[in-house]
Amino acid sequence: MCGIVGYVGPEAASPRLLDGLRRLEYRGYDSAGLAVHDGSGLHVARSVGRLAALEARLADSPLAGSVGVGHTRWATHGAPSEANAHPHLSPDGRIAVVHNGIIENYRELREELAAAGHRFQSETDTETLPHLIQREVADGAASGLDAIAAALRKARGAYALGILLAGEPEVVYAARLGSPLIVGVGEGETYIASDVPAIVNRVRKVIYLEDGQIARLTAAGVEVFDLDGRPAPFEVKDVTVSAESADRAGFETFMLKEIHEQPRILRDLLHQHVDADGRILLPDLHLDEATLKGLDHIFAVACGTAFHAAMYGKILIEHLTSLRVDIELASEFRYRRPKVDGRTLLLAVSQSGETADTLASVRMAHSRGCRVVSICNVHDSSLVRECDGVLYTQAGPEIGVASTKAYTTQLLSFVLLALHLARLRGDLEEPEIRRRLQALRAVPNAIHYVLERKDAIERIADKHHDGPSSLYLGRRFNVPTALEGALKNKEISYQHAEGYAAGEMKHGPIALIHEYLPVVCICTRTEDEVYDKMVSNLREVEARHGRIIALATDGDRAIAEVAEDVIFVPETLEEFSPLVNVVALQLLAYFAAKARGTDIDKPRNLAKSVTVE
Ligand code: G6P
Repeated sequence: MCGIVGYVGPEAASPRLLDGLRRLEYRGYDSAGLAVHDGSGLHVARSVGRLAALEARLADSPLAGSVGVGHTRWATHGAPSEANAHPHLSPDGRIAVVHNGIIENYRELREELAAAGHRFQSETDTETLPHLIQREVADGAASGLDAIAAALRKARGAYALGILLAGEPEVVYAARLGSPLIVGVGEGETYIASDVPAIVNRVRKVIYLEDGQIARLTAAGVEVFDLDGRPAPFEVKDVTVSAESADRAGFETFMLKEIHEQPRILRDLLHQHVDADGRILLPDLHLDEATLKGLDHIFAVACGTAFHAAMYGKILIEHLTSLRVDIELASEFRYRRPKVDGRTLLLAVSQSGETADTLASVRMAHSRGCRVVSICNVHDSSLVRECDGVLYTQAGPEIGVASTKAYTTQLLSFVLLALHLARLRGDLEEPEIRRRLQALRAVPNAIHYVLERKDAIERIADKHHDGPSSLYLGRRFNVPTALEGALKNKEISYQHAEGYAAGEMKHGPIALIHEYLPVVCICTRTEDEVYDKMVSNLREVEARHGRIIALATDGDRAIAEVAEDVIFVPETLEEFSPLVNVVALQLLAYFAAKARGTDIDKPRNLAKSVTVE
């Protein structure tokens, strides 16, 4: 959740660090700070709030020096305050540390250090680290590296760290255990960052640090060590993300840009996995035909938006194949006794591949003998590295905190997987599969068509944005769409919103309906009676004077008679309609948030990637 950047090279460090931190702003944070070595010692600047506050402070009193580390903090231990902001210093001011993650045994360590006379300036778990390193130095550690390694051997929990030592004016240290951290290798300069977009405009080569590794960076290059200080092997990889994709490309927000990218990204994903002969190719899943045929149970785990994708995956796979699919929130799965074993395929769905609960679930499933594969967006993320196979969603970097393109690519990934399984296992006849592939090819255009109607959606959002609450209803394939639409709305417009299976309306939510409540009803056409049931629900809302915003199939005039407002979307096979419908709901939430004047790309309290429990 926190952002880390570090720099060592010929240029002034502060502007580089601020630029990197700005690129990480989307992760969500409440305070920020820098530490820079000016050749004679360490200097620190910290401030509460957005990066602009730190920039203003540095404009008044700049920090000179070409070696430094920077941090944006999302509070876990200790409230957002200047004292709790990183970097944290050792008592002698000669060690500065920025940290992402949680030091779980920090209380014991703090007590131990306090008993030895250490005084702490903050309430954070992080501050124990510079104190520990200072103690190792005082105890005669042979080098800075040895002191850091010895201190880290005493820390339990998770960390990505950037460390400066006053005694090594041309070095940045980095360390990783359970929280992502990369090293960027440039021409005569090196970087560290918690995420590739922070430095994508600076370097094209990166090293993904492994858990339990410490890197020592100078302008000339990088050395990597294990926690015993022994040299460790590492691989320098090319950055696959383009610098432009980390920019807004002229859109007013990243979220709007990412909503608009969906038709192209989905088309590309489809082309990548379905060849001209209609074969579905998923080689990175590393699941051979025999395994897929022998499978009888899939268990999908995820958090947030990715969980809604898993809900859709369950409905679809059970609809198209003979497989049983269970789903569970990763935060629950990891603390239960779910019935999984060697015959279960665990599917972990995650945009970032760094979500703490999802990773913990994967580890638990592995220990029970499950085969584990992921549907993931970020190459070389922790999740991908821990799984036996992956289906990359290829959405590109998603910067807006509210997930959009990652979601639709997760849905499409489930479609590909379901059709692949149905074909291999003989659950669907070939013409049925071909019919669906044909329908799938029309989906990107249908989304494009929804995007073209964004002005109409904006007018509807403008009209309804000021209420305190709204209800979202859908059935079958579109229950997850209703949940996801409501989630988008609450995430970015801060309007309370509930998503419900429409059939459940009578069991509670109907009590909420009154003449001011917007009720978003997903009422796109289906091939059977589900559509009629949905229309009945619409009537029930109408009878209680709820303000119906209906999502309807083009040409469905009957819905227009019942609803106050209608968003028309192109006809799509019901199974795939969530891919199209959710885009209309993303826009509805987007324009409601815009009308309410919120910070859309960086909604309050939310983080893009939840790497702590
Ligand atoms: C956070 C994000 C959500 C995301 C969820 C799971 O809450 O704000 O957009 O859906 O984490 O993240 P993941 O990276 O695992 O998909």
